[in-house]
Amino acid sequence: MRTLLCVCVCVCVSVVWTQDYDNYDTDTKSSTTKNSTVNARGHRPTTHGQDVYTPKRHNPPPITGGGRYRGRPTPAPVAGQQLQEKAMQPDEGGCTHAAEEMGVLCPSGCELKTTLVKQQNNVKMIINELKPQVKDLSRSSNDVYNYANSISSSMRERQRVNTDNNRVVSQYTDRVEEQHVYIKETVDTVLPSSIRVLQGVLDKIRLKIQKLEKAIQTQGEACKEPCKTNCPIPVVSGKECEDIYRRGGKDSQMYLIQPDGFNLPYKVFCDQSTQNGGWLLIQSRLDGSVDFGRRWDEYRRGFGNIAFDAGKGHCETPGEYWLGNDRISQVTKMGPTEVLIEMEDWTGAKVYAQYRQFTIQSETSNYVMAVNGYSGNAGNCFLEGSLELFNENRTMTIHNGMMFSTYDRDNDNWVPGDPAKQCAREDGGGWWYNRCHSANPNGRYYIGGAYTLQMAKHGTDDGMVWMNWKGSWYSLKAISMKIRPFFAPS
Ligand SMILES: *[C@@H]1O[C@H](CO)[C@@H](O)[C@H](O)[C@H]1NC(C)=O
Ligand SMILES: *[C@@H]1O[C@H](CO)[C@@H](O)[C@H](O)[C@H]1NC(C)=O
Repeated sequence: MRTLLCVCVCVCVSVVWTQDYDNYDTDTKSSTTKNSTVNARGHRPTTHGQDVYTPKRHNPPPITGGGRYRGRPTPAPVAGQQLQEKAMQPDEGGCTHAAEEMGVLCPSGCELKTTLVKQQNNVKMIINELKPQVKDLSRSSNDVYNYANSISSSMRERQRVNTDNNRVVSQYTDRVEEQHVYIKETVDTVLPSSIRVLQGVLDKIRLKIQKLEKAIQTQGEACKEPCKTNCPIPVVSGKECEDIYRRGGKDSQMYLIQPDGFNLPYKVFCDQSTQNGGWLLIQSRLDGSVDFGRRWDEYRRGFGNIAFDAGKGHCETPGEYWLGNDRISQVTKMGPTEVLIEMEDWTGAKVYAQYRQFTIQSETSNYVMAVNGYSGNAGNCFLEGSLELFNENRTMTIHNGMMFSTYDRDNDNWVPGDPAKQCAREDGGGWWYNRCHSANPNGRYYIGGAYTLQMAKHGTDDGMVWMNWKGSWYSLKAISMKIRPFFAPS
């Protein structure tokens, strides 16, 4: 019980503290005073003579070749096998994974219930054992009491007779008196000590019940709010989601992955159904529940909620999160990797953009992104930039080859070194900004979709934008980025 409580308490206090990047803002809202002409706004045009735009500051790094995987082997999964995997969960409650940074676990409701039922059974057993004793004791004390009463009354009777016939019954009276004393002693000493024993037992039970109540209360309070997930980790794990798929983890849900032996395993959400599965979710926006206006360190480590349990006993509902640039970089560098960006507008329409090649360099290169091989129906923002713009303006919105920027780490292509000209400060989140964007998946979440530059904090299109689908002034309802090792289909 105590371990359980401890784990719960320890694990539940990991609330992420965030600082709003707006506190850093010193920029003026120059464009908001003018009346809104809702033009494309992703770029920061040059004011001629004062600054110039150098199109490619960073050459995208070469994309690694040589596939890790062949096509998927013909699946021969036995239905019963998978069921069995689900039934036995060695990590029920997940509390043994103490080294986690994200998506902490609480003991599940079932676990709590089992513990409480066990405790309750103990108390019940003790009470049942004590029941006959209590019964006996009360019966015998009753008997003694009645006996004492009858003796007393008979003694009174005798005393009355004695006044008449003192001498004759004196001998008899003595005997009655003796008995009376004995009875009185019994009532005065033996009975109280039995009652004391009984009271001790009752106190113990009361204490046990109090402890139990306190435990329940603590559990309740500790798990009330900050717990992010409360579901078991599936038995199947692997290097990444494709590996998990090939090992039989074919349900879309939270898994534990360990891309290499040097780093600890961590939790991710695997989409095992879209395009035959194997997708590792690296970015997810769906309800605006997580703030994406975060610092470099947070983007490096990752933040948000991996997954939730929608009542089925496992985490099959993804949360909003950023996996973390170090992890993303590491996984994309293991071999050829493709990326799938899926998005949805506020009417439920869905489109996607897919790149057959996707590599993120390490932090020493500021996580330069390289993509290639576009397909899809959302528009090729990463390679072509915004189609609403032309020439230089369009080039400014290409993301391929860009370094990662956050509001506290400016690596973009908009007058480097000028603190008033930082894309990440104006456009809502960390991203591979150029000058500045055609796609802004980590931007602000605007409910309803359409927004204006008056609504935007800095008069820029800081929403969750994919310009080649919905333009600058429409913020998507949902967007996600998933990666998978690239392999030729079998
Ligand atoms: C300016 O915008 C406001 C609200 O956005 C509108 O009411 C007003 O008519 C506009 N004025 C002009 C001159 O377009
Ligand atoms: C670039 O954008 C600015 C402002 O949006 C505009 O004035 C300029 O004409 C554009 N240049 C080109 C080549 O389209």
